[in-house]
Amino acid sequence: MQKRKLGNSGLEVSALGFGCMGLNFLEGKGLDKKDAVSLLHSAVDRGITFFDTAEAYGPFTNEELVGEGLQPYRKDVVIATKFGCRDGSPVIGLDSRPETIRAVTEASLKRLKTDYIDLLYQHRVDPNVPIEDVAGTVKDLIQEGKVKYFGLSEASAKTIRKAHAVQPVSALQSEYSLFWREPEDEIIPLLEELEIGFVPFSPLGKGFLTGVINKKLEDADRRNVIPRFTEENIKANLVLVDALSEIAQQKNITTGQLALAWLLAQKPWIVPIPGTTKLHRLEENIASTEVILTEDELAKIDKTVKGITLVGDRYPEFLEKQIDR
Ligand SMILES: NC(=O)c1ccc[n+]([C@@H]2O[C@H](COP(=O)([O-])OP(=O)(O)OC[C@H]3O[C@@H](n4cnc5c(N)ncnc54)[C@H](OP(=O)(O)O)[C@@H]3O)[C@@H](O)[C@H]2O)c1
Repeated sequence: MQKRKLGNSGLEVSALGFGCMGLNFLEGKGLDKKDAVSLLHSAVDRGITFFDTAEAYGPFTNEELVGEGLQPYRKDVVIATKFGCRDGSPVIGLDSRPETIRAVTEASLKRLKTDYIDLLYQHRVDPNVPIEDVAGTVKDLIQEGKVKYFGLSEASAKTIRKAHAVQPVSALQSEYSLFWREPEDEIIPLLEELEIGFVPFSPLGKGFLTGVINKKLEDADRRNVIPRFTEENIKANLVLVDALSEIAQQKNITTGQLALAWLLAQKPWIVPIPGTTKLHRLEENIASTEVILTEDELAKIDKTVKGITLVGDRYPEFLEKQIDR
């Protein structure tokens, strides 16, 4: 698979990463350990070198799984993880105090079975801790060799600038897809200016953009707390998927591949991290890196999407409040 650079300090990863969250967290119950480890190995075999996890996924168990699955390939892969939730849970709140960052890093290193974290993100900006202190703490961890690169997630332009002045930020991980294009206003131009890479999370709109969701989700599905996934909002937003699937069919690709190829076409320093629990979908997603969208096709997608008004917030209120504005 082709490689892409995140930031300007030498971090190079496969053009598509693997979002590990859903392997054993969210959306129902996930995979058992053996199957999850096997899927991680399949991802490496197929050229993926960039894996995304967080203390908060589980909490803790996702890092353990990723640590176990990637241990045989440790030197060949880039592992990204995140700190910043109180006791590992965004439901409890945020905590990016320097002493917590240090303690979480040590615990993550153990769970990931490694002596360095390639990319350490702050999961959410903590309004009670100056971002300069957060960046300074990660800078120290980098100097100690425990961390290689620094990242932020869902940070505002103002925060990114302040953090970057203390410790260069290699990547921003925020939601970005044909389902959520807000980063185009202010964030992407800033990342371009500062030469920071962009890692779009939920690049398939949490599965919605693939077209597999067309009715109320099962009761156990954790996406039920998201306003965009209420029964009536799913129904209303399907107009987007229908329009995209028509364009995808003309190109003989799947709607999910269109969504990923569109992201990859936006900037050469964008690396989406779709998640899946299924090998055939992993392969389908990987094949999107071979899709080339022409200028005409990109313009058509842009026009189509801009003509559609989506309904429902992307987060429930208590999580929306944690977004840095
Ligand atoms: N920084 C943050 O705050 C944050 C927030 C959310 C996510 N993330 C990261 O981003 C990663 C990806 O985000 P996400 O899991 O929210 O959303 P996503 O990657 O947009 O979508 C994942 C969903 O799409 C389905 N799917 C994947 N490939 C498919 C295909 N080819 N056809 C049909 N369905 C497909 C998966 O189901 P199956 O498993 O059934 O295939 C799963 O339900 C996470 O794993 C996590 O690492 C970060």
